[in-house]
Amino acid sequence: MPTSTAAIILAAGVGSRMRSHLPKVLHRCCDVPLVSHVVRLALAMRCDQVVVVVSPQGDAIREELTTRFPKAPLHFAVQAEQRGTGDATAAGLASLRGFKGQVFVLSGDVPLLCKETLLTLKRAARNQDIALLSAVINNPTGYGRIVRGPEKSIAIVEHKDASPHEREISEINVGVYMADVDFLRKSLKRLTTHNAQGELYLTDIIAMAKRAKAVPLSDPHEGRGINTKRELQHVDDILRLRILHELQDNGVTIEDLTNTFVSADAVVQSDVILGRGGVRLHGNTRIATGAIIEGPCVITNSTVQNDAHIYGFSHIENAHIGPKASVGPFARLRPGTTLHASSKVGNFVELKNTTLGSHSKANHLAYLGDTTVQEHSNIGAGTITCNYDGVNKSATHIGNHCFVGSNSTLVAPVTLEDGAYIAAGSTITKNIPKDALAFARTRQINREGDAKRLREIQAGRKKKDA
Ligand code: UD1
Ligand code: MG
Repeated sequence: MPTSTAAIILAAGVGSRMRSHLPKVLHRCCDVPLVSHVVRLALAMRCDQVVVVVSPQGDAIREELTTRFPKAPLHFAVQAEQRGTGDATAAGLASLRGFKGQVFVLSGDVPLLCKETLLTLKRAARNQDIALLSAVINNPTGYGRIVRGPEKSIAIVEHKDASPHEREISEINVGVYMADVDFLRKSLKRLTTHNAQGELYLTDIIAMAKRAKAVPLSDPHEGRGINTKRELQHVDDILRLRILHELQDNGVTIEDLTNTFVSADAVVQSDVILGRGGVRLHGNTRIATGAIIEGPCVITNSTVQNDAHIYGFSHIENAHIGPKASVGPFARLRPGTTLHASSKVGNFVELKNTTLGSHSKANHLAYLGDTTVQEHSNIGAGTITCNYDGVNKSATHIGNHCFVGSNSTLVAPVTLEDGAYIAAGSTITKNIPKDALAFARTRQINREGDAKRLREIQAGRKKKDA
């Protein structure tokens, strides 16, 4: 029978070195909170139970995780006081009453770990009391050091407790362990606070083990823990490049690696082109095959379907862009925008809570809010839907094959039935029936010869003034 696996994720620390009101593990790395990276990894390891240890102020962490992983076997344990990583692990263990098997102990502030590495750790932990990850790094200051003794014995000495000789050791503790649950239960009870920080160190249990193994990481970056904003930025950049390299390996063209950002939640299919100048794909944006995204642009929580083309300087949020649609340059699509297949939104056009039917166009300088436009309609330059009267929002409906002349104002609520045609410069306040031509502007008068007479009068005035 395969042994059961659980995970305890330590996330109750105050993170004072971040100098922030936000709990440390909620700071984001490539758009995703640090702790969510770690929970996602624990779930990818098929843990039967995942316990996240939070402080009594940990409500925001609970909310983030239960929203993000609604169906996961996730539990929360509260560490009443931050008395150290050993105490936090004991709090997590209390939620695993009756559990038999092996337990990963992971830190909520180490987001770069890969599944393959944890699989290696799991293999190393077979027949051991505990196995842990180590890393050999150039500047080990601040980390716990792996002290390798005779007959393969190992211990961890925290930086603050280390002798000058021990501080020269460059193999550090990553803070990621896999232990037999019975060993964990027994050894945690024996911890004391006799150390430089007066804390219950989880790291002290290593020296208590009869059989312990430290597995060095092949890529030491994977073990980077985040304690400061500088480290956060550094790790963010490592993860950003990792995401981009993975996309390249999967057939995405990235023309400008330095200035491209793709969130850890985003999905980009093969044969997408992410152009130069700063493409930013935030949140759970989805880009389908064949789409071209030119920079600079920002796309947040949106979907872009096959062969759509987003031109530069566009801002897109909570929008859905259909196949072969074209957007920008300089377009702003606000929440609730849906563009159907082969529709077009051009320069200096803003859409909010608006649907543009397939083959419909709003090519220049327009604002459409709370509007539905059906298929094959044309919205002329300078068209504005007046959807807001200062108190209430109202809807505009534009049917199929409509033509809205340039510089028209549509005062909502208003409906244009199929084939309606609005003369340029109209202010429309009434519904327009099917195939009707609407004029809503003053009639033009041409007074023969008056322009010439006017110029003569103006020229006479100029002479007098001189
Ligand atoms: C810890 C290790 C150190 C290792 C380093 C790797 C100990 C004693 N030291 O040090 O050997 O090199 O990680 O990054 O374990 N936490 C709690 N409750 C607490 C204290 C911490 O939940 O009372 C959580 C934090 O939220 C964090 C994790 O435990 O996610 C690690 O704590 P942190 O204070 O960052 O430990 P380090 O000083 O980095
Ligand atoms: Mg740390």
